[in-house]
Formats: sequence, C-alpha cells, structure tokens
Amino acid sequence: MLELDSISMLYHLGAQEVRAVDSVSLSVPQGEYLRIVGASGSGKSTLLNLIAGMERPTEGRILTPEGDLTVMNRKQAAKWRARSIGMVFQAFHLVPHRTALMNVELGLLFHGVGRKERLQRAGEILEKLGLGDRLNHRPADLSGGEQQRVALARALVKQPALLLADEPTGNLDRDNAREIETLLGRLNSEGLTVLLVTHDATLGEQHAGRTVRMEYGRMTAMGSATASV
Ligand SMILES: Nc1ncnc2c1ncn2[C@@H]1O[C@H](COP(=O)(O)OP(=O)(O)OP(=O)(O)O)[C@@H](O)[C@H]1O
Ligand SMILES: [Mg+2]
Repeated sequence: MLELDSISMLYHLGAQEVRAVDSVSLSVPQGEYLRIVGASGSGKSTLLNLIAGMERPTEGRILTPEGDLTVMNRKQAAKWRARSIGMVFQAFHLVPHRTALMNVELGLLFHGVGRKERLQRAGEILEKLGLGDRLNHRPADLSGGEQQRVALARALVKQPALLLADEPTGNLDRDNAREIETLLGRLNSEGLTVLLVTHDATLGEQHAGRTVRMEYGRMTAMGSATASV
C-alpha cells in the first residue's frame, strides 16, 4: 500500500536546521493498523503530511499504488490525496453552519458525484458510525465525540484506501476517546488501512497490529508487547 524509502524532511529557519523526519523507512501493507507513537515534536505530523503528499520530502521516495509520490507534481499529489487518503486530526474542522449530513457531503465534493448520491452516501456512513439520529445537527449541537465521528465520516465517505489519524482523540474525554478508538479498530477489521499517530502509548494498543516509535525524527521498531511501557 505504502513504502517509505529513507525519507527525510529538513526545515531551515534562519541559520537553524530542523530535521523533522530523519531517514525513515517504513512499509505499510494493505489492511494494516499501524501506530506511530512519539513525543511532541518527534516528527509525527510531518510524516503524515509527507504521506498525504502535502509536502515533498527533502530526501527519499514514497511509493504508492499510483507511483512515486516524490516525483509527482502538485496536481498529481492532490489527486492521490483526494482519491486515496482520508485524514482526521485532533481538531474536528467541521463547518459550523452546516449540519452533520452536509459536513460529510463535503467529503464527496469535487469527486464527480451528484448531489443526491452525495447525500445518500453521507447518510449511510453517518448511520454506520452511529449518528443516524444526528444527521441534521450542527456541530455546536453535537458532543465532542460525535463531532469527531462526523469528521471521521467526512474522511471515509469517499472510501479512501488509507486513513491517517493524527492524535484523533486529543480533544476528547476518556469515554469519547475510547469510542473513537473502538471505531478505528472496527473500521480496520473491515479492511481499512489505518495509520494512527499519537503521543499516547495506550491509544489504539488493543487494535493496532504493529507499533513503531518516533524520536527526534527517527523511527525505531517496537513490538506491540512493549507498547505499554
Ligand atoms: N514548517 C516548519 N518549519 C520549521 N520547522 C518545522 C515545521 N514544521 C515542523 N517543524 C519542526 O519539526 C519538528 C517535528 O514537528 P511535528 O509537527 O511533525 O511534530 P509532532 O510529532 O507532530 O508533534 P506534536 O505531538 O506536538 O503534534 C518540530 O521540531 C517542529 O518544530
Ligand atoms: Mg503533530
């Protein structure tokens, strides 16, 4: 599904050089649930941005089923992202004046799907994520956990091959975090490839097939048996 071959990302701020990602190699088979655990500033979000094709790494190659992401132009990379990648973040990024249904419908905009089908698919995925009775609620009228489920539905409605989740429970209390955690596990068991990054070594521990650690931009292997220490 995805093959990172010695990728590095260097930022220059004045005279200072930051190696946000440092020679990371990683292979993600289709259907895997991979956790990347690391402290703040270890390069987790930078890595996801590279995988999503938002930025191009300074060094290395990123092989996708659609070719090497690092030689694609902006338009091709945007296509890869639009077609294949769903993303959720700590913040929900929902449009406040739109209902849950209309927020999820946005996930299919620019995909050449007519409005009727967009709304039907949005309704279906919301139903699947347990929000069938919240379709017409606006974000302010939803709990945090529900808002994140709407954001998840928006990411998934186009049926991406890969879900990138960047600290998706960071804004949630324990119960709601657990709910999202369980949902990610369920989606993975249904075939979705999931890449979860978090500083929380317990998040997703029960469901992930593999855990790797990031430290100062470098990736080190870690068996799931040691993930809790
Ligand atoms: N655009 C940028 N310009 C310069 N430095 C950057 C840029 N983006 C990130 N960095 C630096 O790269 C390092 C990795 O940042 P990144 O956001 O990937 O960390 P993270 O692991 O996601 O942290 P957190 O858990 O706090 O979200 C940090 O030291 C950060 O300051
Ligand atoms: Mg981050």
